[in-house]
Amino acid sequence: MKRKLFGVLLTLALSASLLAGCGTATKDAGTSAGSAGMETDTNETAGEAVRDTSEEAANGNGVLVGVSMPTKDLQRWNQDGDNMQEQLTDAGYKVDLQYASNDIAAQVSQIENMIANGCKLLVIASIDGDSLGTVLIQAKDAGIPVIAYDRLIMNSAAVTYYATFDNYMVGTKQGEYIRDALDLDNAAGPFHIEIFTGDSGDNNAKFFYGGAMDVLNPYMESGKLVVKSGQKDFETVATANWSSETAQNRMDAIIASNYGDGTVLNAVLCSNDSTALGVANALASSYTGAYPIITGQDCDIANVKNLIAGKQAMSIFKDTRDLATRTVKMADAIMQGGEAPINDTESYDNGTGIIPTYLCEPVFADVNNYKKLLIDSGYYKETDLQ
Ligand code: BGC
Repeated sequence: MKRKLFGVLLTLALSASLLAGCGTATKDAGTSAGSAGMETDTNETAGEAVRDTSEEAANGNGVLVGVSMPTKDLQRWNQDGDNMQEQLTDAGYKVDLQYASNDIAAQVSQIENMIANGCKLLVIASIDGDSLGTVLIQAKDAGIPVIAYDRLIMNSAAVTYYATFDNYMVGTKQGEYIRDALDLDNAAGPFHIEIFTGDSGDNNAKFFYGGAMDVLNPYMESGKLVVKSGQKDFETVATANWSSETAQNRMDAIIASNYGDGTVLNAVLCSNDSTALGVANALASSYTGAYPIITGQDCDIANVKNLIAGKQAMSIFKDTRDLATRTVKMADAIMQGGEAPINDTESYDNGTGIIPTYLCEPVFADVNNYKKLLIDSGYYKETDLQ
């Protein structure tokens, strides 16, 4: 039901962005240090994901797969790239892995090169979901299927499958955490909250924001939860490129205008860990009241350290090894002319129709369960978190 309501809102937002046209300019060209070269690193921490390598080894047949990742600046994409490279290689594929430094033009040209170099399949985590339409017409014309990886590619009929985590559920879990931690159903309140979501060109950000706001909106409407800055709508609380620095600057300004007089900030809804990091940095430098609840997502190493130190209340663990395993299964199915296992055929319409999707499950993480989730599963080594 709520998903449907959110779906309607999303469609409206999509129509609005279509009407407004979609820019294809560089988002932060030159500001990040990501390599545009072919990657050969392997991931020392991966390897626990369940897969039958011997069976899959027959499937790849040396076929070249282009894997396009958005940036090396945010921790998770390095893990995603490493996992994809390792698992595709184990399954018998050749891999052309490229990172685009959050530069849309670079991502487009890397994909063009992958097509020119004869790749037979593209796996793409887009920087801006709306900016790949033209290059993907080339892919479609060349008969190259495309798997949208983690982020949906919008308004392109070239997308065959989508593999991601349940993005709406991520937001729901964040919203429910704040609701329960502040005991919004029973406590008198009012409580103060501020909101930080991700890049407005990332379709996921709308799902994270929508999932959380569907939980929290009723309390905002009743006045129990107050956004003192008044900054609440998606575009206002979006953070370009999910940048920690941008989030930090906005939080600094919010503290100066709203919480400098001793007003207590009770919670900050952050859609992911990079924004949570920026918010925590701003709080450390200029907020003196009782420490708020901060949410996050990804279980980045810096943020797990903050969970342990009491500077972030929760995160969401998305096991990128599982996402890679699911994506390789899709690749195998496509290469064999079969159908990949999917578990969602209604949530993700990219503007050309519903894209068959596999949703991996996001898992709540906090100081009490991080060891089991992250260390025992081999995702991190204990020393990574020291
Ligand atoms: C991913 C998140 C990530 C964010 C910034 C989103 O598309 O789903 O896991 O935190 O991008 O990299």
